[in-house]
Order: sequence, then C-alpha cells, then structure tokens
Amino acid sequence: MRRRTTLLLAGLAVLLATTAGCGLGGGSSILPAEVSQPLPIPPLAPSTVDEAGRRVFSLDLEQGSHDFGAGEVPGTWGANGSGYLGPTLRAEVGEQVVVAVTNGADESTTLHWHGMHLPAQMDGGPHQMVDPGQTWSPTWTVDQPAGTLWYHPHPHGRTAEQVYRGLAGLFYLDDPGNAPALPDSYGVDDIPVIVQDKSFTSDGRLDFGTGASTAVGFIGDRLVVNGALGAYLDVTTQAVRLRLLNASTGRVYRFALSNGRPFDVIGSDGGLLAAPVRTTEVQLSPAERAEIVVSMTAGETTRLVSRPPELGARLSGTELFGREPFDVLELRAADRLRPSPPVPDRLADVPAADRGDAKATREFVLGGRTINKRQLDMQRIDESVPLGQAEVWRVTNPTSLPHNFHVHDGQFRVLSLDGAPPPEERAGWKDTVYVAPTTTAEILVRFDVHHDPAWPYMYHCHLMIHEDQGMMGQFVVLAPGETADPSMLVEHSDHTG
Ligand code: C2O
Ligand code: CU
Ligand code: CU
Repeated sequence: MRRRTTLLLAGLAVLLATTAGCGLGGGSSILPAEVSQPLPIPPLAPSTVDEAGRRVFSLDLEQGSHDFGAGEVPGTWGANGSGYLGPTLRAEVGEQVVVAVTNGADESTTLHWHGMHLPAQMDGGPHQMVDPGQTWSPTWTVDQPAGTLWYHPHPHGRTAEQVYRGLAGLFYLDDPGNAPALPDSYGVDDIPVIVQDKSFTSDGRLDFGTGASTAVGFIGDRLVVNGALGAYLDVTTQAVRLRLLNASTGRVYRFALSNGRPFDVIGSDGGLLAAPVRTTEVQLSPAERAEIVVSMTAGETTRLVSRPPELGARLSGTELFGREPFDVLELRAADRLRPSPPVPDRLADVPAADRGDAKATREFVLGGRTINKRQLDMQRIDESVPLGQAEVWRVTNPTSLPHNFHVHDGQFRVLSLDGAPPPEERAGWKDTVYVAPTTTAEILVRFDVHHDPAWPYMYHCHLMIHEDQGMMGQFVVLAPGETADPSMLVEHSDHTG
C-alpha cells in the first residue's frame, strides 16, 4: 500500500515535471547566513602501503550527527568518525590503490569513484551493493591525469538522499613528476570546497522532504561548504587554489567573486586545463568540479558567491533556484601574505579533441526521467562499446528542464555545446556536462584497458533525483570477440560484489 502511494507520487512528480514550463515548482532562495565559522577542512585519509606495494585506505561509513553551525543535527552520514562527509583520499598516478569500504550504516549502499578510470566491477555503481556490516575492497591502478575526483554512494533510487545526508568526499589524484607550480599545500593554499544546499526543520533536523519538491529535485534554503554554514577561510598566501565541487543534488551554481574580480580556472572535472582561463564566473551543475586560483591582497576580505546560472533559453535560474547572488565562502586575507608563484602559462598536456578520431556516433535523447525513452533496468545492457574505440556521443535535451550527462569509467572531452565549441574552461577533461534545454552536447569518449562483457558502467543525468527516478542507462566495454552478457546481473543486483 505504501509502495503504491510512493509510486503514485513519483508518477505525479514526473507528470508535473514533464508538463512544466509554466510551473517548475520553484525552489527556495538561499537565506543569508552570519559568517561565523572557519571553513572545516576534511582530513586527509591515512593510508598504508602493503607488501604488494598497494596504497590501502579504509572508509568506514556510518550514520551520525553533525553540527553545521547551529547545533547538533541528527540523521547525517559520514565516514571515519566525521559524522558528515568523508576524508579526502589522495593517490598518485601509477599507484595501485585499495579502499576497504565498510558499511556501518543500517541501510545498504555503494561507494562510487566518480570520474575514475577503472574496471567496472570496482566502480561502485548500483551493482556493487555493500550491505550493512559488510566490507567491500575494490582495487585498481590510477591511470589518468592528475585531477580532483570525488566519491559518493550510488544505490539505485537512494543516491540523492544519501549524498544529501553527507556521504561524499574528494579523491585527489596527484602526478608529482608533472606538476606545474601551483598552490599545493592541502588545507593551507589548496582548499577543498564542497558546496551543498540544505534545509532544516524548525526543530533542527535535516529536511529533505520527498527529495522531489521541484522539477530538479530538492532545492534547499541554506548553503553549507564542507558541512559548515556561514564559513570563512583565513587566507595566508597571495594566491589560493579552490577545488570546487558541486555536491548538491539539484542546484546549479555560477561561482564568482563578490567584487567581480577575475580569477584563473586551472582545472575541470578530470584534470588541469592546458592553460589557465582568466574569467569572472564559472558554472557547475551537480557533480561537476572546477579548480580556480584566486589572488588576494593583504588585509582584504572578498567573498566567493553564486550568481544566476545560465541554464539556457527560456529557463530562469530564479524560478528554479530562487534569488541570486548569495554568499558561498568568505575569503579573509591576513595582513601579511606569503608569496605564491604566479599561475604558469602552461599547465598540462591536454591532447586536441579530434572528432576525426571517432569511429562511431551514438545518440542519447534525454526525456523527463528517461534516456532514449527508457528508464533504468538493472538487468538490461543498453549499449555495447568496443574497447579503445573513440566515439562521438550526441546527447540531446529536447525537454524544457535542465539536465546534465555523466559517463562512468573516466573522462571525456566536449566537442560542441549547442553547435558551438565549448567555452575554454569546459574544453579539458570532463566526466559530466550540462545540457541546456533544446540543445545537443557532443562528447568524444573512449574506453581503454578495462573491458568486461558482464559488468556494466552507467551513464546518467547527475541531477540526483532524475538519476534516482531512472534517468540512467548501462553500457559494457567489449574487447574483440566479446558479446554483452547481462545474465549474471539478475543475481548480482542485490549482492555485494
Ligand atoms: Cu557521480 Cu554515476 O555518478
Ligand atoms: Cu560517476
Ligand atoms: Cu536530469
């Protein structure tokens, strides 16, 4: 009976969403907060190196409580005793890593390595469920450029709420041999900035409602960074590198500085850009990352804010997300700043994205809560992609809603957005791309090394309520001679991998 009501409500939400345009079920504006808390820095996860030379981490997931700044709030999730969010994992390119993930919570979950190039069985998608009390220990070799990845749960239908409650963290990949001179002192001038919106009930609990209060899901009225309301950062160096992660379930941010001053974008989802991009604004939809370098003068205070996002024709950010701009993080420069190196002109070797490399084109049409008119079926393989073959994926959003598109197993390149080349800050390594209403995004994908006819990877909208409602598909990567074999998925779907 309860299930039927839930289905009915979900159906109603889809109906409301797809008939939207006039009423998008507008979200709340972010309320101003008193700036009162030093920005918490997630600890670096300790690791050991085992006899086989593998870097071993442990993540103990657990439910708890957390003080966002206005008293202890129950019902949060964290890892390794944090109560909210997990530690930052850090590994080097070429290293083999192992992460022992223990589920100490009372509901099943998974942990997905968002942006990572790795075998499908290690991916932590909805097929690698970890039941309460169990430990799952995926291992892989880091084989991609240095960059700012993240991890989060991915159980089908429960991702938005578990991320909302705090299960997420960063995963830095370093390449010391090829690192340009950039601020890199963790927590000092290299700062994780995990941005999320929240709502609280009058009696001080986390409020997520049904998670589907608007056409883009939950939209909160409070802003937290690394789990803190009203956060400020004491800056002690002339330049500070902010690693921005949009870990909200549905809100889009357009980050800027309060005085409109330019900053340098140095990295996108999966790595450094070829060269810094001087700009005054950078937009991130859910799951996207950007690394920026902000220059400061001694004694000044400036604020990182979010301005009205550019969502595409006829779509108003104000209608969806309320009034903007709002404050994200106050930056307070000390009276004396230690010198920082100037941002180098060249940052990384990013190969040209050449559509001539593509051997095939695949079409993905986003619907209300579908991709190519289908909702996720965990037992169905939607696409079989040949190993090592470059392809153009054409992702079309014919709806009136904002969507983005995320592909597992590493990084892609954006070839075009609405027929035009991508802006420079989106021309590097990406794993998630915003697709504005009535436009097409073309991306260049290629899946190397890992192939498996039985275990799929996911592609999906990363507005987490859309993903939970089935806006997701599965693909396998096949070596020559292999054919997709979904037969095991029936058994695997409810077991720990
Ligand atoms: Cu960030 Cu399929 O995930
Ligand atoms: Cu992912
Ligand atoms: Cu979507």
